Amino acid sequence: MAKLETKAVPQHIAVVMDGNGRWATKRFLPRVAGHKQGVTSLSRCVQACIDRGVAVLTVFAFSSENWNRPQEEVSGLMELLVLSLAGEVPRMKANGVRLHFIGDLKRLSTKMQTGLANAEASTADNTRLILNVCFNYGGRWDIAQAAQKVASSGQPITEMALDRAMALAHVPDPDLLIRTGGELRISNFLLWQTAYTEFHFSDKLWPDFDAAALDEAIAVFCNRERRFGKTSEQITSKVA
Ligand code: FPP
Repeated sequence: MAKLETKAVPQHIAVVMDGNGRWATKRFLPRVAGHKQGVTSLSRCVQACIDRGVAVLTVFAFSSENWNRPQEEVSGLMELLVLSLAGEVPRMKANGVRLHFIGDLKRLSTKMQTGLANAEASTADNTRLILNVCFNYGGRWDIAQAAQKVASSGQPITEMALDRAMALAHVPDPDLLIRTGGELRISNFLLWQTAYTEFHFSDKLWPDFDAAALDEAIAVFCNRERRFGKTSEQITSKVA
């Protein structure tokens, strides 16, 4: 296990859960079996975040571009979302997890939208961890919908107004973004919110990403110096 420094753990971790397909293919299983294992890995990650005092976890479960995957995989992911709600929500409720679904949910069936709204409502009083599940989400969609909201309200389009209209306005920006599966790109995830986020890329496939891998990512984060555009001297001497 990587040594954890005494610096505060990231309060908001975002994850691109990549590598489910490869995990399944290596085992001669259909890709959906990898996504199913991905749900188990997500559940383990939620628990590890709670145990480490992380306040917000935001995960990329289905991107705006994932509709272009083979029909069988798309419907498999839709079914998995419904099954996961039934299987995981009671546990999340008991563990103090508050669920939010983030994205253009209007494209989902009415039945699915109702299921997501019910899951959000039934966990709304929980305060230990906020879990944002990004579904039919794209960073460009998010910026465009925020701009539309601000424009139609008649306010000037300022950074602050856009920030308040973004889909993740209920949480601070991520401190740490983890991408598993060895790819080094953002893939239209949180384009607006990651302006000063620290990035960590893991070669582990998402189903293999365990608590030790999370600790390693947190340890790397704790050893980074976040400067937010300032100089190192300003940060270390606390001079503004
Ligand atoms: C990327 O791996 C992963 C996804 C597109 C889906 C992520 C979904 C989960 C982890 C399950 C949780 C989802 C729900 C429905 C709650 P990939 O398929 O691109 O993997 P590859 O790069 O190995 O092909």
